[in-house]
Amino acid sequence: MNRQPHIVVVGSANVDLTTFTDHFPRPGETIFGREFHLGFGGKGANQAVAARLCGARVSMVARVGDDLFGPATIENFTARGIDASHVWITPGVSSGVAPIFVDSSGQNRILVVKGANDRLSPSDVEGASDLLRGADCIVLQLEIPIETVYHTLRFARAHGIRAILNPAPGQALDLAEVSNADYVIPNETEAEALSGMPVRTLDDARNCASKLLAGGLRRVIVTLGANGALCAGADGVRHIPPFAVEPVDTTGAGDAFIGSLACFLASGCAEAEAIARANLYAALSTLAVGTQKSFVALERFEAEWRAVTYPPSPPGGGFPAPAEPKSR
Ligand code: RIB
Repeated sequence: MNRQPHIVVVGSANVDLTTFTDHFPRPGETIFGREFHLGFGGKGANQAVAARLCGARVSMVARVGDDLFGPATIENFTARGIDASHVWITPGVSSGVAPIFVDSSGQNRILVVKGANDRLSPSDVEGASDLLRGADCIVLQLEIPIETVYHTLRFARAHGIRAILNPAPGQALDLAEVSNADYVIPNETEAEALSGMPVRTLDDARNCASKLLAGGLRRVIVTLGANGALCAGADGVRHIPPFAVEPVDTTGAGDAFIGSLACFLASGCAEAEAIARANLYAALSTLAVGTQKSFVALERFEAEWRAVTYPPSPPGGGFPAPAEPKSR
C-alpha cells in the first residue's frame, strides 16, 4: 500500500441470521435446515470491514436500534478498529436484520428488514460533515433512505471527495443524482434495475454500462460474479477476469469487492489492478461461510495475490470473449 487512506462508509449495519439448507419450504410446509450462523452484516458495515482489513483507516456513519444488536454492532466496529463515533443508537426502533438462506451451491437469498438504517437522515450526514470532509473516499449503498444517499453524493461532489455508490439492493434511481458518484458499482441484477435492460451476458453488461454512461454516470463497474467485472468510462470498456474458486457461501462477496476496491483505489493502486485485486479479495471471501467473518486479512490476501498471475487482460482494454477463469 502506497499510503493509508481514510474511507468513510455512510450506510447500513445489520445482524445476519444465516440458515444453510438444501431445500426451501413450500407454503405451509415445515422442513429442517442444515446449519445456522449469527453474524454482523449489512452492506455498509461489510464494506467498512473489508476496507479496514485491507489496511484503510475507516469511519462508519450509521444508525442501529436500541435492542440487543445495536450496542453489539457498535462493539464489533470498535473491536475491528473502525471509528464508530458517528454510529448512533435510535430509540424505539429495531436494528437492521437480514434473514439469509444459503443453498448447497453456496447461492444466497436475502431478506433485509431495514429497522434503524431507515432513520439515517441527511441531517445525520450534516452532523458528520467534519469527518466526511477529511475522507479520501466516501462509500454508499441503498439500505438507508435514498434522500440520504443523494444528499451525501452531492456533498462529496461539492467537496471534491471521491464517492463510490454500490446501488444495492437494486432499484430504479435518479441518474442525475447518481451522476455525482465517481464510481457506480452494481452487480447484474442491480445493473438491470438501474438501466431497465436485462443483464445476463457480458455483452448485456457492456450495453447496460454504455446506456448508464449515456445517462450521465461517470464510471460504471458491473460485477459479474464468476465472470469477473466490467469497467466502463469515457475511455472505453475493459473486462477484468475472475479468479476461479469453489464457493461455499457467496454472501457478502459483493461487499468484499466494494470495500477492498475503495481501499486499493484510495491507496494509489492503478484502476485495473485495483479491480483485479478486488476480484481476488471477493473470491477469497466465498471460501468461508458468513459475511464479515469470511473476509480475509491483508497478510493472507497479499500472499494469495503474489501467487496469481497479473496482468491477465488483453492489451488495449477491449471487450474480449468470456474469459476462462484464472486459476489460483
Ligand atoms: O451483501 C450482503 C449483506 O446484505 C448481508 O450482510 C445482509 O445484511 C444484507 O445487507
